Amino acid sequence: MKLKDKVALVTGTSPNIGGGIAEGLAAEGATVVCIDAMAANADDCATYLKNSGSQALAITCDVTDEAQVKVAVRKSCETFGRVDVLVNNAVIFNKKGVLTMPLVEWRKQIDVILTGAFLFTKYVAQSMIERQVRGSILNIISTAGHQGEPNNIGYSTAKSGMINFTRSTAMELVKYGIRVNSLTPTATDPSESVERAQRWGRVAPDLSASRPIFEMYRSRIPMQKLPKPSDYGRAAAFIVSSEAEMMTGTDLRIDAGAIARYWPWDPAQK
Ligand SMILES: NC(=O)c1ccc[n+]([C@@H]2O[C@H](COP(=O)([O-])OP(=O)(O)OC[C@H]3O[C@@H](n4cnc5c(N)ncnc54)[C@H](O)[C@@H]3O)[C@@H](O)[C@H]2O)c1
Repeated sequence: MKLKDKVALVTGTSPNIGGGIAEGLAAEGATVVCIDAMAANADDCATYLKNSGSQALAITCDVTDEAQVKVAVRKSCETFGRVDVLVNNAVIFNKKGVLTMPLVEWRKQIDVILTGAFLFTKYVAQSMIERQVRGSILNIISTAGHQGEPNNIGYSTAKSGMINFTRSTAMELVKYGIRVNSLTPTATDPSESVERAQRWGRVAPDLSASRPIFEMYRSRIPMQKLPKPSDYGRAAAFIVSSEAEMMTGTDLRIDAGAIARYWPWDPAQK
């Protein structure tokens, strides 16, 4: 068990990637605090983990609200004694370009992705320093943060910003023994999130309309198959654990080769 006796706080615990990461950390022995602005996403994730034999707590919290973030970190520390691991994963998607994105929507998206990570990192890192916890922080990026995706300006910009947020906080916190890294997912196989939603007692969402787009992603990725949230969950458990104790300020790509690909090469041609 890589994370026995560790307390991990994960933001954005939908049945997709946040749920997969929460389950991956719990599978390695972590107690998980499930944080989400949508109460059902925090509650269902925590309830599933508890029913599977792990310790978990659900907290409804908007990651952009400083007062709510302070309360969430305090409640986690009061309940479990400390926080050892933070995963900044919460997101809103809003595919618009620089020519059409309304300012209010740009601010909202940047706020959830970047300000949310800033606030949770600030208060969790302070709690770690107070308790002398040599903790680990993980920021969830996207291949869109490494490459120039058109018509997704808020997301691409915020995710790219998170890469250097990771490096800067890693350098600031290194003297306290706190490691900060990022993990880059890419277009994700949707079948596991459907299965997870069902395991959480929900009605399976109908994804038939999005099948062609996922087939397009699959045909362009070097490995010719898309990663699943559980692939990210296993990688997250590794990088936040002591097995990765010499890693800080780095990015772990679980992207089936997407970023390494030479741009004119078509992997479907062999
Ligand atoms: N889905 C993909 O294919 C993909 C690809 C690359 C990277 N990612 C990254 O993985 C992470 C998870 O993506 P996902 O597809 O599981 O997203 P999702 O939409 O399924 O889940 C995001 C969660 O964040 C929560 N959230 C939104 N605003 C919030 C706020 N203000 N406060 C608290 N919670 C809030 C939502 O309620 C939701 O539960 C994100 O960081 C995303 O950028 C996803």
